[in-house]
Amino acid sequence: MKKTGFCLLLSAALSVILWLPLYSNTQTQVPPASDELTLKDLPDGEGKDILVAACGSCHSVERSIAQRRTKEQWRATVDGMIARGTQMFIEEADTLVEYLGIHAAPLGQAAGARLDINSASAETLASALKIEESLAKNIVSYREKEGKFSSVDGLKKVPGMTDAIFNSIQDRVAVK
Ligand code: HEC
Repeated sequence: MKKTGFCLLLSAALSVILWLPLYSNTQTQVPPASDELTLKDLPDGEGKDILVAACGSCHSVERSIAQRRTKEQWRATVDGMIARGTQMFIEEADTLVEYLGIHAAPLGQAAGARLDINSASAETLASALKIEESLAKNIVSYREKEGKFSSVDGLKKVPGMTDAIFNSIQDRVAVK
């Protein structure tokens, strides 16, 4: 009798030891709550207006943005929804893809992705780069007047651009 009791205790202890790493492993795999996206998390702007107008008629807007995606994935999603009958202009789809590619990008990837200074709107430049709206508008009007930037360094010529601001944003932008 004593022996079976000991064996039971031993197997109980063993199973706890064996299951412990598995348990702690599943704990760390639970994604952080901040990974879930709702409409409130998205900044106001043209992209959001398009999203609300075009992506909420068949299913909820919240469902449209529940999952974070890369810009390429958003392109495929939005094109897929257009194929399903979403009514929107091509320019609106482009604006939406750019907007979601920045504001609904997978966490960690948003920081790594570079913003194209030759196509981003003033609104996107201001919110994604966290620069003054007036400076963002200057970038766009400079681009409209002088033509597309041939390099990131071209930003230095934009009125209002200081060395400090340029240094803080140069790693987050690109020319495409
Ligand atoms: C004409 C109706 C319609 C409109 C408008 C619409 N969708 Fe959908 N959407 C669907 C249908 C039907 C499904 C389910 C079929 C499926 O899962 O492929 C779906 C599913 C989805 C899904 C989940 C499936 C997936 O691809 O992961 C996402 C995300 C989505 N839509 C995003 C959007 C976005 C963004 C817009 C706005 C550009 C939009 N939808 C507008 C019809 C629509």
